[in-house]
Amino acid sequence: MNLEDLADITEAVAAAAESRRHCVRVCMAASCQSCGSGEVLEGLQTQAKQNADDGVCIKPVGCMGLCSAGPLVSVDSDQPATALLYQDVTVDDTEDLYHSLGDQPVERLRCRTDVPFFARQQKVVLENSGIIDPEQIDDYIAAGGYRSLMRAVTEMSREEVLREVKESGLRGRGGGGYPAGLKWATVAMAPEPHKYVICNADEGDPGAFMDRAVLESDPHRVLEGMALAGYAVGAEHAYIYIRAEYPLAVERLKTAIKQATKKGLLGRRICETALSFEVEVRLGAGAFVCGEETALMASIEGRRGQPRPRPPYPAEEGLWKCPTLINNVETLANIPAIVGKGGAWFKSIGTENSTGTKVFALAGRIANSGLIEVPMGIPLREIVHEIGGGIPDGRRFKAVQTGGPSGGCLPEQFLDMPVEYDTLRSAGSIMGSGGMIVMDETSSMVDVARYFMEFCMDESCGKCVPCRAGTVQLYGLLDKIADGEATPSDLELLEELCDVVQATSLCGLGQTAPNPVLSTLRYFRHEYEEKLRPESERMPRMQIVTLDD
Ligand SMILES: Cc1cc2nc3c(=O)[nH]c(=O)nc-3n(C[C@H](O)[C@H](O)[C@H](O)COP(=O)(O)O)c2cc1C
Ligand code: SF4
Ligand code: FES
Repeated sequence: MNLEDLADITEAVAAAAESRRHCVRVCMAASCQSCGSGEVLEGLQTQAKQNADDGVCIKPVGCMGLCSAGPLVSVDSDQPATALLYQDVTVDDTEDLYHSLGDQPVERLRCRTDVPFFARQQKVVLENSGIIDPEQIDDYIAAGGYRSLMRAVTEMSREEVLREVKESGLRGRGGGGYPAGLKWATVAMAPEPHKYVICNADEGDPGAFMDRAVLESDPHRVLEGMALAGYAVGAEHAYIYIRAEYPLAVERLKTAIKQATKKGLLGRRICETALSFEVEVRLGAGAFVCGEETALMASIEGRRGQPRPRPPYPAEEGLWKCPTLINNVETLANIPAIVGKGGAWFKSIGTENSTGTKVFALAGRIANSGLIEVPMGIPLREIVHEIGGGIPDGRRFKAVQTGGPSGGCLPEQFLDMPVEYDTLRSAGSIMGSGGMIVMDETSSMVDVARYFMEFCMDESCGKCVPCRAGTVQLYGLLDKIADGEATPSDLELLEELCDVVQATSLCGLGQTAPNPVLSTLRYFRHEYEEKLRPESERMPRMQIVTLDD
């Protein structure tokens, strides 16, 4: 396969599209499938068959973003902001919907697209999501896919690819925010002949589904990013470590690997060069700690998934003691655009120290929950009140939890803060992988802290004492406080223990487990103190916002 072949495929797909009168896209990502989009797709296909009409294309696509309104169906335009969009579609609506094509829209199902949810987003990672069929490699190629890989391996040196990634300022989207270019350079400079690339698709944070959506919606983008990484650092073998609870993403990934290998874009002698790049899928069993890079590598090697001290870092000594580049799904999904459009282009989006865009999973007490992609530096208020549509039921915003179990809760005073790595950290939270849970006045911050501590306690691998015993003790104290049975000395002990667990745990899980407690103590201390008062003097009990809300 060469550049000309890619152009031929693009032309053929465009010609087929032009010969059709209408294109109806049905979201077939996990969230919409769980509310019946599979039946909607079948219903529409049946309509097309019954009408013997090959002028209408019924296309399964990936996530369109507004998952809370699913199943979503879009008609005709491949620009989400201008497409005719239908929400909450059921199989019973398919007849009306089909017969409305080219005529009056079905008003009762219409979802407005001229709203900030669509207009304020900027899509790089999700640019094809909800538009292309994730199971058709030709669709990805027609959208410009595999051009960057083709150009890189035939026209650019490894150093040039690396330079673009460094120039882009891209920081790892898996949570730590480490500069991708620096990590790549370390692996590229390692003298060992055998190196590996790993894509971390473990995604264990409660409420997070960004990586799953990317893999379900545009798997070739991640594979292309991995192949570019392999070329830049000199690795010919790669693994995608993905949790088994993501069966749809696993299936689409495997299909994508097969298709790309068949076309000579992965495997041996890629893009008609002497280079090889083989990708294997490895399933994780759903332990949160297996997302930690050293535990992840142990798991791939067939050992128990437990972290080990760093250094040595994987970039120096990783899988089977070989230099290994580990990047997150979203980090790698940015690479084809960076190599294709240049590092300087990427750097022009976002802020100086947090370049590009970020995908967030918006959840909790918010009108529009789902997946969004916004430029770094966007004010939190814009995410919550404009894109997210604000707090439902006339309630007031109270806080937003970012960064999952390693993150923290930010109160109203931070709504005008630009969302980027360093501002979030200085406010006592972190970007994390992109989970954002919005809470209203009915949420109890002590319950929120208890929820995340329970998660860390359950997920602690038990290798080191501060985390194994500390999270249990922290949870016990939070439980006592939440139940109104604690004394002021319990609160003191809670704070002391947070410091100890943070400072002495072996890996990031234990080191960051106290963060939700510390941030809620920092901004909502009165709620903890309220729980220490005698019951007769307390305000009525507040409820917790759950991640399913
Ligand atoms: C307990 C724990 C769980 C983690 N889970 C994930 C995960 O699911 N996905 C991920 O990309 N990174 C996860 N990380 C971060 C990884 O260890 C690693 O930093 C990341 O994959 C590097 O990729 P990046 O530089 O592209 O962010 C986790 C870290 C810790 C401490
Ligand atoms: S900090 Fe917790 S999860 Fe990490 S190694 Fe120690 S016990 Fe295991
Ligand atoms: S899964 Fe269908 S819109 Fe997100």
